[in-house]
Amino acid sequence: MSKLFETISFREIRLRNRIMMSPMCQYSSEDGFANDWHLVHLGSRAVGGVGIVCMEATAVSPEGRITPYDQGIWKDAHIEKLQQITSFVRQLGAVPAIQLAHAGRKASTARPWEGGHQLNPQQGGWQTLAPSAIPFREGEIPPVAMNISDIKKVINDFVAAAKRALEAGFQIIELHGAHGYLMHQFFSPLTNQRSDAYGGSLENRARLLLEVTAAVRTVWPEKYPLFVRLSCTDWVEGGVQVEDCVWLAKQLKQRGVDLIDCSSGGLVPNARIPNTPGYQIPFAEKIRQEAQIATGAVGLITEAHQAEDILQKQQADLIIIARQLLRDPYFPIHAAQQLNVDIPWPNQYLRAKTS
Ligand SMILES: Cc1cc2nc3c(=O)[nH]c(=O)nc-3n(C[C@H](O)[C@H](O)[C@H](O)COP(=O)(O)O)c2cc1C
Repeated sequence: MSKLFETISFREIRLRNRIMMSPMCQYSSEDGFANDWHLVHLGSRAVGGVGIVCMEATAVSPEGRITPYDQGIWKDAHIEKLQQITSFVRQLGAVPAIQLAHAGRKASTARPWEGGHQLNPQQGGWQTLAPSAIPFREGEIPPVAMNISDIKKVINDFVAAAKRALEAGFQIIELHGAHGYLMHQFFSPLTNQRSDAYGGSLENRARLLLEVTAAVRTVWPEKYPLFVRLSCTDWVEGGVQVEDCVWLAKQLKQRGVDLIDCSSGGLVPNARIPNTPGYQIPFAEKIRQEAQIATGAVGLITEAHQAEDILQKQQADLIIIARQLLRDPYFPIHAAQQLNVDIPWPNQYLRAKTS
């Protein structure tokens, strides 16, 4: 029996299989608005059979965007197009999720295909914010260290974004606590040198993420799951280690988080990341075992048998796929064929299933 195609439920949300489309920035929004690119990009993967279609890192405020073209959810006007997308994804049998994000010191950059460098105000950039005034790369304009009212505003922005996500029809929220963005910057001692209640000890460095989580949980319905993506290691000495994340996952679980999406890296440019198939699976396995919380495995998972194996070995509860779904939007349909599982195809495509 294939586990990849077994259903699974989180709270009242039942997934048709264990495959989640990983959030992937498209850098294709104007003023934060989704458009037909997003409808087709996300809709195609729902047609392809994934269980959860997750919208890319979506900025809770304009200054929290990585680039000027990031997807946003900081105003009510963003909701309408998102409603069309979530309703389409749901009609196709997938569950729509959204990743809520703030880029902190990694905001205000050019798109990757335009070089990805920091943008100064003359180039359409803006002043970035972070726990401490330490730039991502040497020579960059440093971020401004956030004061308490900046921190409160970020928490309120996440709450307002969660309310809009609900109105937009999303059924899962993933909070972006990874990849060197704002909440990860607070959590890592390498980027957080504060001496107030948000810096210093592990508890203090986790405070922003834990406060955001608790505040979002109060407005996000009980029946809907809440996921958090973590960077389980910074891959550098003195940075976050997986043991810190085991502790953090336990704290998140107590605040109503249902799954930890176990990623890594992104905090500093000089980290040495192994990049071998399934290199982050050990994090998903350890956090699942030691924090007793569901986990998602992500990173260089590209084949059906590889995905199946991770679930059979109980290393994770969900398989989260990014680039392979860009290469093959029908990965789940193809994976089912390889695992000899019969899954329903969209009626419109049935003639291709049998002959
Ligand atoms: C085009 C692209 C955009 C991405 N954008 C995001 C994002 O918005 N949020 C996020 O947490 N990770 C993002 N990532 C990382 C992926 O979600 C994923 O964690 C990573 O690519 C490893 O998985 P893979 O080997 O299946 O691609 C992005 C990756 C790619 C390739």
